[in-house]
Amino acid sequence: MANPVLVATWPFGLAAVRVGSEVLTDGGTAMAAAIAAVSHTEADPEVDSVGYGGLPNSAGVVQLDAAVMDGRTGHAGAVGALEGILHAVQVAEAVMRDGRHVFLVGSGAKRFALEHGFQEQDLLTENSRNWFKEFQRTGIKKDFFDTIGVLALDTHGDLATACTTSGLAGKMPGRVGDSPLIGGGLYADNEAGAAAATGVGEDILKICGSFLVVELMRQGRSPQEACQEVVRRCIRHQQRETSTQCCFIACNRQGEIGGASTRKGFQYAVWKGEQDSLIEAPFFGGEF
Ligand code: GLY
Repeated sequence: MANPVLVATWPFGLAAVRVGSEVLTDGGTAMAAAIAAVSHTEADPEVDSVGYGGLPNSAGVVQLDAAVMDGRTGHAGAVGALEGILHAVQVAEAVMRDGRHVFLVGSGAKRFALEHGFQEQDLLTENSRNWFKEFQRTGIKKDFFDTIGVLALDTHGDLATACTTSGLAGKMPGRVGDSPLIGGGLYADNEAGAAAATGVGEDILKICGSFLVVELMRQGRSPQEACQEVVRRCIRHQQRETSTQCCFIACNRQGEIGGASTRKGFQYAVWKGEQDSLIEAPFFGGEF
C-alpha cells in the first residue's frame, strides 16, 4: 500500500488538499480526491480566479476551463470556455467517463453539462461585478493567474490530476488557456508521474509544460528537477527580458514532490499522511 499524497497550487490549495485528504484516507481513488479538492475551490467565492466568483472576460461573462487526467488508465476529459456551470471540473470528469470525446468547448460543453444533470447558475459575485465595472472604466487587466491544479497519489499507488480556472481576467471571449489542454495544464501517467501548471496559459501551452515535466520524470529526473528544468525552458522559450509567471508542481509514484516558478512568490500546498504544509517554490526568472 502506498502512502497517499496531495499537492495543490497556491495557498488556497491548502483547503483543497484537506478536502481531498478525506477522500484518500477513506480509501478513495486519486481521481476522486483530485476532483473533490478542486471542486472545493470552485465553490469558494473568495477565490477570484476559479469557479464561482472567478473574474469574467471582457464581455462580463465568466468562462471556465477545466480538465482531469487519470494516470492509471490514461483517460482524460476537458471543457473550455464553459459558461454558467459551477463545477467545470465535474463536467470534465463526465466528458472523460462518457468516453466519446476528450475536449468540449463553449455552447457544446454547456449543452453536454445540462444533458448530464448539471444545473445552470450565475457565477458572478458582488466582487466580480465590481471588478468588471472597474475594468470597463480603466481597461486594466489583472496581472495574476492562479489556477487550482491538484495532483493525487492514492493508497493503491495510482496517480491522477485535476485543474480548473476562470483564466485570465478580462480575457477575449473564447480565449482558452493551458488548463484544459491535456499536456499543457496537466498530465498524469502512472509510469512516470503527474504534473500541473499555473500561470500565463499562452506561455505554458507553447512548451507543452505539464507533459514535459512528466516526460523528464520518465527519463529519471526527480519531480523537483523536472519542474526546474521546465521553468528554465519556459524562460528560454519566451526570449523576453522579464519572463511571465509560469509555475509547475509534480509528484511521482514514490510520493516525491516538486515545484518551481519563473517568478518569486509561488507557493504550493502539500498533504502527506497527517500533515499539510505550504512550500515556497524556487524561482528562476528574477524577482518582479
Ligand atoms: N493558467 C490559466 C490560464 O492561463 O488561463
